[in-house]
Amino acid sequence: MKYILRFLLPLMFVMTIFGFTMVPVVEALLQKWFLRDIEIRSQLIASTIQEPLSSQILSKSETKIATLFNQLIQDERLYAVGFCDFMGKLVYKTATFPQVVKCRSEEFLSSEIDSQSVREPVRSLNISFHLVKTPELKLGELILIHDVGFLEKRSADSKRYVFYFFAGLTAVISLVTVFIAQLSRRGWVEGMRSFLKGEGLFTPLSQIQEKELVPLAKDLRELIRDLQTEVTLSDEPRTRWTAQTLKKALQQELSGEEILVVSNREPYIHFKNTGSISVEIPASGLVTALEPVMRACSGTWIAHGSGDADREVVDQKDHIAVPPENPRYQLRRLWLSGEEERGYYEGFSNEGLWPLCHIAHVRPVFRSSDWDLYVRVNQKFADAVIEEAKTRDPVVLVQDYHLALVPKMVREKLPRATILTFWHIPWPNQEVFGICPWRVEILEGLLGSSIIGFHTRFHSQNFIDAVDRYLEARIERETSTISYGQKTTAVRSYPISIDLERELSPTSIAQCLDNVKSRHQMAAAVKIGLGVDRLDYTKGILERLSAVERLFELYPQWIEKFSFIQIASPSRSMLESYQQFETQVRQMCQRINDRYGKNGYRPIHLLIEHHPSESLNEYYRAADVCVVTSLHDGMNLVAKEYVASRDDEQGVLILSQFTGASRELLESLIVNPYNIDQCAEALNAALSLSSPEQRTRMRTMRTLLQKFNIYRWAGHMLTDAASMRKKNGCTLTHEVFAGPSILTELSLLSKNCLTKP
Ligand code: G6P
Repeated sequence: MKYILRFLLPLMFVMTIFGFTMVPVVEALLQKWFLRDIEIRSQLIASTIQEPLSSQILSKSETKIATLFNQLIQDERLYAVGFCDFMGKLVYKTATFPQVVKCRSEEFLSSEIDSQSVREPVRSLNISFHLVKTPELKLGELILIHDVGFLEKRSADSKRYVFYFFAGLTAVISLVTVFIAQLSRRGWVEGMRSFLKGEGLFTPLSQIQEKELVPLAKDLRELIRDLQTEVTLSDEPRTRWTAQTLKKALQQELSGEEILVVSNREPYIHFKNTGSISVEIPASGLVTALEPVMRACSGTWIAHGSGDADREVVDQKDHIAVPPENPRYQLRRLWLSGEEERGYYEGFSNEGLWPLCHIAHVRPVFRSSDWDLYVRVNQKFADAVIEEAKTRDPVVLVQDYHLALVPKMVREKLPRATILTFWHIPWPNQEVFGICPWRVEILEGLLGSSIIGFHTRFHSQNFIDAVDRYLEARIERETSTISYGQKTTAVRSYPISIDLERELSPTSIAQCLDNVKSRHQMAAAVKIGLGVDRLDYTKGILERLSAVERLFELYPQWIEKFSFIQIASPSRSMLESYQQFETQVRQMCQRINDRYGKNGYRPIHLLIEHHPSESLNEYYRAADVCVVTSLHDGMNLVAKEYVASRDDEQGVLILSQFTGASRELLESLIVNPYNIDQCAEALNAALSLSSPEQRTRMRTMRTLLQKFNIYRWAGHMLTDAASMRKKNGCTLTHEVFAGPSILTELSLLSKNCLTKP
């Protein structure tokens, strides 16, 4: 309807203006024509009776003149007739002759004018004066008085007709316009639909006859494909997402709805520390991203209580308000036995799914005992969600590969819940995924979600391919939706990010540089390279160290002029693969330091320890170059944190092409981490990059992060959830938040209600 009104309202407006302008014009024109007719008529009468009247006047036949005049006024329009003599005296007249009409002056009779017409103002009379003469002599004037009162009536009639005419015309034009608009819109929609299916606009591409249209159609198709690929980057937010706008969107879109986050890793871990209890924020991209979102949204975060002092600080319901210094949301801790931790976390999650999804040359191990514990612990998490839910239709944000079965388990108990699952790591292609003996169960578990999100479209596609290959599901590739059983799941990409503002530090760059250099006894002229990772084999730390070594081989001028600091937070150190990896890293550092270190100069500083975010920030601000060489990474937030910390717009980022971040941070130096020479060259280029060039690159990346921040990530997911709930007739009554999102696509979802029982 809105679409039609868009056409009709302006059309009606224009037609009304046009109608109102036309009515007086038409009226004036008609009056002019009618008066002209009357004048011609008078002339005709006057010339017709000229001869008999002249002779009757000369013979003074009063009776004949009276008869003639009375015959004339039989005509309904001719109201009165009179004759004035040469002296200006009214000699003969009909009884109807109005007294107000006087004979014309002698001037008229003496002039050369034969007739004259005037309009008597009061009684709507038209009076015409005609000279009556014989060939020899002027006798007087004949006065013909026409009643033009009918003109008023005609004018009113014509006004009405003009009005009806324009109203009718508007109606016809409107109908035709709506008809054509509908036709052409339907045509375009059809055209676009077939076009996106790989056919032509209205006919299959292969059948387009006009050769000149083929390249155009191809270009258009490619353009649409590009737009689809880049959609997550190009949907410029109308407003910049902030903690406040996210909160507002939640209030507007999910007012009164509760948010429950569920993840394995908790945002705050309490440790016993020689008589006191200390709190640590773990090194986890998931925590880095979600923590600011929870601060903004409140709600409850359910996670495994993994710290040795965690139980001591919670209440009877295992709750603790966090952040400790300024509580904004609730953390619900869930306890796992040693056996559960080993089977579910260390075993199935980190020895099975983690290497499976990263394809990072560590063989995935799948044990059925681990799987059993994975199922059991997933059920524990699902039960905790159900327990924490205060309503029948909460919004549940399920996080990561540890909890693949939770969506289905929650859906069974809370069928009206809106479940958003985010997979923080890559999703491999379907052959690789097929290695997993419980691939069907994993896919079915995830398809309990309303929406399942990945960092990139590539991983979303891999997921859809896996479903296609291993399940009997209906897949709508056009809308990226999967119908399985009685429900539909939307598969989407939401590139995760950070809160740029939180990365800003009050400590100056010079101060940070001073602190770092004095801490590591570096000479003033030494440039600093930095790597920040969990000590994980997927992070490409060995490749990075090899690149530093290669830099020294290729460009020996950097020896003693460049040092590399590798911060590696200990991670999953109970696993053999991680222990071996740590040994390899230590050995390589040792070897390079032995080879190039001298006179107190150390090429590599390896810091295998946990660093709080303030400390990391200091290193970021001191580093000339930050190196991220993951062999495979869903996003990698270190790259974004480095950019965020550099408000001086200096520093260079070297970034692996196998990270999700490399799709966004295009001004970094993008490398293939397996190509050691290329990485060494990139290091040399980064260290030699001029300050203005660094500024240009850093500024562009910072601008991007300001817009594509963590609030936008959460905002898009939650507004999509809101629209889904609205569609499914849940509690929402507010207007849909105007953010670029999948709202339109969701309208194409199958009629199967996602959350209805
Ligand atoms: C990755 C995963 C997170 C995980 C983090 C740290 O970023 O996607 O889910 O929390 O690694 O790993 P950890 O095993 O210490 O939780």
